[in-house]
Amino acid sequence: MTENNKNTYTLITGASSGIGMALARECASRGMNLYLVSLPGTGLPELAGELSDACGIQTEFLETDLEAEQSHAEVYRYSQERQLRINMLINNVGVGYNGDFEKMEEAHITRMMMLNMKTTTLLTQLALPELKSHHRAYILNLCSMAAFIPIPGKSIYSATKAYVLYFTKSLQSELKATGIQVSCVVPAGVPTNSNVIDRIKHTSWFGKKLIQSPETVARHALTGLFAGKTVIFPGNKLKALYLAGSILPQGLVNRLMTKEFRK
Ligand SMILES: NC(=O)c1ccc[n+]([C@@H]2O[C@H](COP(=O)([O-])OP(=O)(O)OC[C@H]3O[C@@H](n4cnc5c(N)ncnc54)[C@H](OP(=O)(O)O)[C@@H]3O)[C@@H](O)[C@H]2O)c1
Repeated sequence: MTENNKNTYTLITGASSGIGMALARECASRGMNLYLVSLPGTGLPELAGELSDACGIQTEFLETDLEAEQSHAEVYRYSQERQLRINMLINNVGVGYNGDFEKMEEAHITRMMMLNMKTTTLLTQLALPELKSHHRAYILNLCSMAAFIPIPGKSIYSATKAYVLYFTKSLQSELKATGIQVSCVVPAGVPTNSNVIDRIKHTSWFGKKLIQSPETVARHALTGLFAGKTVIFPGNKLKALYLAGSILPQGLVNRLMTKEFRK
């Protein structure tokens, strides 16, 4: 990063566990100050204190439900009140529910759309003026390999991540003349919450080969972001899978995905 890390902050949503926490640790180890946001009662104050002590950085945190209607405004207001000079926004928060679309609970559908798309979009829009005020600034969105491949039983999740992919690519083009780098990282299976861990247990030998730790994803994400990559594959295996998926006939890809996700 070109600016003095001492004066600037990285805002991470959904930072209390999983990939968000790994990103917070990776940023802290690089000397970056942090503004962490997550649900109340999820250990955010403890994480912020631990990273401040261990890495000698400044940390701020806000406990809030990002699914709430005006939460993006609350997150932004908090940073303004404390005059945090945010030069990096990591839109990590996101959820994924599995199951047939017809039987999916409305609350689950809404939560995926709110967190994966709405919070990410509106927080980015609010943060843009501050990001633009820096010589160099960064936006990192958490996407997924599911954005590339239609997955039965994951219709809404895949669709929300396809949104994140196109949002990232379009915004990167739109902001090309500015000092803002916009990127997204596309992990496959990462054992974080109990839902994902349970799904991974039932995946094939091939699927298990693609699993990565949250720490590996976080390391690849930041390296790719600072290298100016718009779409960041956390490792060569996932890049190879993407390339194979784009040259194989769509019908074959769909049959393979159905076999993998309909066990
Ligand atoms: N895990 C994977 O296999 C995988 C693969 C590809 C992409 N991704 C994407 O990577 C991102 C992180 O995934 P993850 O697996 O690390 O998720 P996770 O383990 O479930 O963690 C999500 C984080 O967001 C917080 N959070 C959840 N709902 C929230 C809300 N309403 N308001 C505020 N904070 C909230 C969680 O708080 P708690 O501490 O309370 O849970 C947690 O800190 C997501 O965008 C996901 O779609 C994940």
